[in-house]
Amino acid sequence: MAVPSTPPRQNTFPVSDWSVLAAHWHPIAIAGEVNSQPIAARLLDQDLVIYRTSQGVTVAADVCAHRGAPLSMGRLKNDTLVCAYHGYCYDGTGRCTAIPAHPDSPIPGKLQLHVFPSVERHGLIWTSFDHEPRTAIPEFPEYADPAFQKILVPPLDWAASAGRQLESFCDVAHFAFVHEKTFAVRDPVVPRYEARATPTGVFAEFISHAGNVSDPNAAAQTWRRVYNIHLPFTAHLVIHFPTGGKLAMLNASCPVSARRTRVFPVVARDFDHDQPVADLIAFQQQIYAEDQAIVERQNPEDLPIDLTEEVHVRADLTSITYRRQLAALGLGRGFTS
Ligand code: FES
Ligand code: FE
Repeated sequence: MAVPSTPPRQNTFPVSDWSVLAAHWHPIAIAGEVNSQPIAARLLDQDLVIYRTSQGVTVAADVCAHRGAPLSMGRLKNDTLVCAYHGYCYDGTGRCTAIPAHPDSPIPGKLQLHVFPSVERHGLIWTSFDHEPRTAIPEFPEYADPAFQKILVPPLDWAASAGRQLESFCDVAHFAFVHEKTFAVRDPVVPRYEARATPTGVFAEFISHAGNVSDPNAAAQTWRRVYNIHLPFTAHLVIHFPTGGKLAMLNASCPVSARRTRVFPVVARDFDHDQPVADLIAFQQQIYAEDQAIVERQNPEDLPIDLTEEVHVRADLTSITYRRQLAALGLGRGFTS
């Protein structure tokens, strides 16, 4: 039987999805990496430059107002961003403050960068293309709690849609199959669990009696995972271990393009502070790599928001609720390609 084939879609967002996503906050960089040099980022197919002056962090379109050179190729000097092409200088508001070729001439008002709102929070830089974003930045209370050690895992680049990535982070039925080498659980059965819509996304609480197979007492232990998805693409997870320790995570996904996602995992733990941070980072990287191998191969690449697509069982309650919430946000109104 011939396999039906459909031409691959463009790696871009339908206009309606783009407009919805543009009105939300998204993570675009690790704040500690925005220092003495400008850095480049990409969000929703838009190239951005991020730079830090005494006025704070600025996020702007990566386009010089003079001749369109990428400002991320420039450098910081005298508290301004200096374009690499003709040396025009821009302050933290994006206003041009110097034209080296004509130091004594007035500076045209049009020499102004397209600046977007930016906030530094939870160790990350967040931006939106809307000056009044629809929702607040996701909460991560453990990040502000001195009892927790904070660890920023280096960003991960996936060739997958942000919706598929986020859904995999919150999926509770894949542990025994995908994470065999890391935290594999003994039992693939998914107990009944709670998942419900919240004003900002989805709440889910999953209690399993199956722990890590490497632990001889695992079967008698209870692990509690509490998920809070913050629409569109961030999830906050707290794992309550049987030992009493808590590991909190922010899986903050940046929709770089329709099928390109940069994941910023931020971890906070209230135990094992004497253990090497590098070990935790390597462990998280391995877990994410296990997920990535599957998620990058899912078909269709875009998360089907219409619940008549794909098949749903009780174990998928979080993802069912998530897809409903994305639809309520206004996403998934159709591709034009
Ligand atoms: Fe930036 Fe000319 S293109 S200064
Ligand atoms: Fe996983």
